[in-house]
Amino acid sequence: MSKFTPPRSRGDIFAIGDAFHDSAALLFACARGLFDGLVEPTMAGEVAAAHAWSAWRTAVLLNYLTAMGLLGRDGERYSNEPIANAFLVRSRPSYIGAALEHQRLQWQLWDGMDTAPTGRNLTQNERFDDQQEANEAFNEAMALLAREKIDEVAALPWLQNRRFVLDLAGNHGCYLAALAHRNPEMRGEVWDFARVRQSAERKFAEASVSDRLTFREADISSPVSYAGVRADAALLNDCLHYFDRATLGDVFQSVHRALDPDGVVVVTMMTLAANGVEPHAAAGFSLHMMLNTDKGLLHPTPIIERALECAGFDLKHASAMNSSSGYTSDRRRQIGSELLETDRNLQIERVDHERHEELAAVCRPAAEPGRRTPRR
Ligand SMILES: C[S@@+](CC[C@H](N)C(=O)[O-])C[C@H]1O[C@@H](n2cnc3c(N)ncnc32)[C@H](O)[C@@H]1O
Repeated sequence: MSKFTPPRSRGDIFAIGDAFHDSAALLFACARGLFDGLVEPTMAGEVAAAHAWSAWRTAVLLNYLTAMGLLGRDGERYSNEPIANAFLVRSRPSYIGAALEHQRLQWQLWDGMDTAPTGRNLTQNERFDDQQEANEAFNEAMALLAREKIDEVAALPWLQNRRFVLDLAGNHGCYLAALAHRNPEMRGEVWDFARVRQSAERKFAEASVSDRLTFREADISSPVSYAGVRADAALLNDCLHYFDRATLGDVFQSVHRALDPDGVVVVTMMTLAANGVEPHAAAGFSLHMMLNTDKGLLHPTPIIERALECAGFDLKHASAMNSSSGYTSDRRRQIGSELLETDRNLQIERVDHERHEELAAVCRPAAEPGRRTPRR
C-alpha cells in the first residue's frame, strides 16, 4: 500500500474509480470514534447499539473496514488491527484524527473538480473565512503534520543563535516555538492570515514562549508586508504551493531584502520532480492545491532552487530530511519506540508519508536585491 502501483488492468482502473469508498468508510469511522470502541473484540450488535445504528448496516461497514485491513475479525467479533490501534484511537499519542478530519471536511470540495480546470472553483481562503469548523480542522491538521519535522528543523545548524526569526505562513507557530525553546535569546514572528492567530497564540502559550514570539497578520506575498522588517532567519515551511511561479519569485525577493547579509532562509516542502509527475503523491497534492486555490500548485523542487538563486540566495544545502509528513505514502520507516511499547512490541511498519525536501539558502552579500535572470 505504501508505493503507488500504476493500473495494469481494467479492474485496476475500476478500483481507482472506487477509491472514494475507502476514503468514505475510513473518514466516517474515524469521525464517529468507531475505532475507540474496537480496542477489545466486540460484536457488531454491540457497536451498533453504542452508536444507535442499524445492526446489519453496522456489520456491513465493519466487514468493509476489515477488508481494508483496519480491523480484524474473529468469528463474530471485530477489533482494531495494530495499525488502527496506533493511529485511529483517540487516546493514543499518535492519533492522527485531526488530519483525517481536515480530509473529511474536504469531501464536498472535490465536487469542484468540475469547475477547477476553468478556474471557477471555491478557494480555501473563501471556505475557511466562511466555515470556522473547517478552519480549525485545518490548523490542527497542520500542527499535527508538522510535528514529525519540527525537531529536525529546530535543530538545523543555520537556525541556531539567531536573533529574530520570521516564520512565514507559519500558521500554528510550532516551528518557531520549538526554535525559541532551544535558543533562549531568540525572538520571532509568525506571519499568516488573521484566522489562524488564535491557534498560533495558543501554541506560544503552551510552549511558554509568548513573551518572545508574536503573531502578525500579514500577506507574505505582498512586498508591503516587509517594509521596515529586519530578520536574520526566515522559515518558509510547506506554503509555497499557494503561489504561482512569478509570486514565488516575489516572495523570495521580499525575504531576501528583509534578511541581514548573513541571513538564512529555510524552505521545506514536498519533493516534486522537474517533470511535475513524480512521485504520485506529490502530483496528487498539486492537483489538490489547484482545486483549492486560485493560482496554487506544488512547484517542482528544481524550480524552487532556481527561484531562490534568482532572488539572490546561495543555495547552501538541499537534502531530503529524515522525517516526513503529508497525506499519502511513498516511503516506509520503522515506527517510533513509543508506539512499539503501546502495541506490545509488535513490529508495525508505519506507512510513512511523502518525503520533504529541506532547502537552506543564505543571503548572497553581493547580490543586487531584485535582480532577476530569465526563467526557464
Ligand atoms: C500548509 S500550511 C503550513 C503551515 C506551516 N508553515 C507548517 O509548515 O506547518 C500553509 C499556511 O500558509 C498560509 N498562507 C497561505 N497564503 C498566505 C499568504 N499569502 N500570506 C500569509 N500566509 C499565507 C495559510 O493560511 C496556511 O496557514
